[in-house]
Amino acid sequence: MPHANALQPSTLVISVGGSLVVPNGGIDVEFLKDFQGLIHAHFKRGWRFVVVVGGGGTARHYQEAARGVGKLTRDDLDWLGIHSTRLNGHLMRTVLRDVAHPIMIKDPTGSLRQWTKPVLVAAGWKPGWSTDYVAARLAKRLKSKLVVNLSNVDYVYDKDPRKHKDAEAICTISWKAFRRLVGNTWDPGMNVPFDPVASRLAHHSGIRVAILNGKNISNLEGLLTGERFIGTVIG
Ligand code: UTP
Repeated sequence: MPHANALQPSTLVISVGGSLVVPNGGIDVEFLKDFQGLIHAHFKRGWRFVVVVGGGGTARHYQEAARGVGKLTRDDLDWLGIHSTRLNGHLMRTVLRDVAHPIMIKDPTGSLRQWTKPVLVAAGWKPGWSTDYVAARLAKRLKSKLVVNLSNVDYVYDKDPRKHKDAEAICTISWKAFRRLVGNTWDPGMNVPFDPVASRLAHHSGIRVAILNGKNISNLEGLLTGERFIGTVIG
């Protein structure tokens, strides 16, 4: 069932799953072009965007390689992930150079006073969570009640659809029920629709999260223009 909404242009925090930017080692140039086109079209309508970029295949490859060579701590693995998100963040900032603040945000608690452009790009901060948490922190700080999480699936399912034929797509779900699905603990490189630490923060801050497939950019367009979109809305 598509969601209908009537969002007014404001500041929107978008958590861009790194798997959209770097699906499996290579960079998805088509996605970057589509995303750039969307940002250009909508900042003119009054939207401002905070774009938080994940690590995707880059993070996974580095973490897997390091795991295979020696004994590492969880923080070591997270730091490899963090630097991957920062590389992808710089890529995004460069692609959006005409509309983006020239400095990428690495610490979501730092000053945002210099930010005047339509777009602010942010990346990973500290070990213990993913860029979803950075997105939730920035949304809370900017008093934004919605985070859009772009991934490469259309919906969140009640169980893993790759393993269970009877998995059902979820259209809307409460934070309580969602948090039962994803659990409470963080694992470096973990692959969940929205990470458990970020979910806790969003839940306690009254922030809703819309999980949309970023490969279908017109769907995100639907959310921005107040038309219909498909995906899972949490909260
Ligand atoms: P993400 O998990 O955010 O990117 O960061 P991803 O792999 O693209 O995930 P999706 O597609 O959004 O689900 C990659 C890794 O970087 C580390 C974690 O190990 C994370 O799995 N990281 C990222 C941190 O430790 N802290 C951060 O603030 C951000």
